[in-house]
Amino acid sequence: MGDGTNPWLRIGNADYERHMGHESVGQLSVLSRITGHQLALVRGRPDTSVAILGIANGNGLEHAWGGLGSIIGIDINEEFLETCRERYAHLVPGLRLHRIDLVTERQQAIDAIKGAGLIIANLLAEHIHVDNLVAIVRELERPIISITIQVNPDGALVSRSGYEAAFDEVVEHARECDEASMLRAMSNAGYELMGRTEYGLPNGKSFVRLDLSRSR
Ligand SMILES: C[S@@+](CC[C@H](N)C(=O)[O-])C[C@H]1O[C@@H](n2cnc3c(N)ncnc32)[C@H](O)[C@@H]1O
Repeated sequence: MGDGTNPWLRIGNADYERHMGHESVGQLSVLSRITGHQLALVRGRPDTSVAILGIANGNGLEHAWGGLGSIIGIDINEEFLETCRERYAHLVPGLRLHRIDLVTERQQAIDAIKGAGLIIANLLAEHIHVDNLVAIVRELERPIISITIQVNPDGALVSRSGYEAAFDEVVEHARECDEASMLRAMSNAGYELMGRTEYGLPNGKSFVRLDLSRSR
């Protein structure tokens, strides 16, 4: 999908926010809260640098705290990254944004995030697929990895907002990953679960945040 076929390249930030922020979807505010909890994971640790994979428009960076090291954000969508830059570059001096395709330019991503103490990947695995996420984190030293996945009791990956048609193509390319499969794949790469938090959403879906660290 490095040839322009990634459907996320055709999602504009306005459509993204209208959908994700719709009152019946409520995902923007919960993802922001989750990002805040994740950034707190490196408080008091020797390495406070963070990499956010699939950073989108930087939602949640308002929780960046003063003692954080650099924050490296990666996304495929330049419009999202530009929005992120406009909103947060002045608030987060250590913010470094890279337009990288995490599927076809994996090595570039690994080189960019190699030193980070915390890797965040929220609602990303279903889009780049778990094997690609695992192939990236397998190459890292000993970071904490914090992953958020979506649980859909209604069986639908995309919520209803009235704007969901913009995501038809994204849904076609997505591959859902349940918690057990994610934990199994991460365990094969040497990462074990150290924390699990569930966050409810207005329409009955939920997010599960899995914090993992490397045991070998
Ligand atoms: C649902 S959004 C992530 C939400 C965001 N992490 C948050 O917490 O608000 C998925 C993101 O993954 C990005 N993405 C999808 N495929 C990608 C790829 N191959 N490489 C890099 N980013 C990708 C999309 O552009 C989008 O910003």
